Formats: sequence, C-alpha cells, structure tokens
Amino acid sequence: MLDTEATLEIAELVAEFKPGNADLIPALHKVQHRYGYVPREAMGVVAKQLRLGEAQVYGAVTFYSELRVIPPPQTRIDWCSGPACRLKGGENVRLALESVLEIGMEENTAGDKVGLHLAQCNGTCDFAPQIWVDGKVVGPLTAADTITLARELKEKN
Ligand code: FES
Repeated sequence: MLDTEATLEIAELVAEFKPGNADLIPALHKVQHRYGYVPREAMGVVAKQLRLGEAQVYGAVTFYSELRVIPPPQTRIDWCSGPACRLKGGENVRLALESVLEIGMEENTAGDKVGLHLAQCNGTCDFAPQIWVDGKVVGPLTAADTITLARELKEKN
C-alpha cells in the first residue's frame, strides 16, 4: 500500500498528461519507469488525472505485456504455455513450480524474490517442456527437475 506521500508523488509524475485515452499508455509507462511496475494505487491516480475509469486503466495495464502489475522479482521464471511444451508435460512443470514456490502465475514470492509468469512459445521447442530463468532457456524439464530447480532458486534468494 502506498502512503499519501507516494500517491502525491504519482499525481505529480502524471500531472502533464491530458484527460482522455491518448495519454493512458505514456502515463503508465512513466509510472512504471519510476517504480519498476504500476502499483495498484497508481492506477487510481492515473484514472483520476485522465478522467477515465479505474477498470479501464487496470485493463490497459494487464493487456500490454510490457506493463507489470507486480514489482520485478530478483529472479524471474517464465513458464512456456505453448503447445509443444504442454504436449511434453509442461503442465506438470507448472504445477511443480507453483507448489514449491507457493505462488500462482503473475505472482512473486515473499519479498519479491522469485516471480512466476505465463509465457508463449518463443520457438525453442526442442527444449520442451521448458521455462526461462531470467531469460535463459532451461529444459527439457521433468517435474522432478523442476522441483529441484525451484527449491534452489527459492533458497538462493
Ligand atoms: S511450445 Fe514451448 S517453446 Fe515452443
């Protein structure tokens, strides 16, 4: 939860933007550039400045993949949801990650140490089922490999 001081800071940050849709994405980018993500409270401030509904602002943040609703984690895991990875057991990889890390997709562990994200096929299907750890392909993975790796990442941070 951001305090009043932070809310005022965000209001100052987006004060240059004019009411309406046109400035929505630039305003959100400016907030993310400052905080590393778009905090929920900032969405309300941006909505007020642009005279838009908060749901519309939230919709934009969650629609554009370059915008984040949670802080960037120390270690980012992207789980490939593509067809080749799914066919080769990707769902078990996902379940293992969620179980060991105790989080769901688009969430961070406590202290923003490890973040788990849903990803699309990037063309490296030879390594299916796979994940990307800070952008590096790790695969093919079994559920057992995934449990070991997730435990290591959880303890490392
Ligand atoms: S389906 Fe996962 S990399 Fe292609």
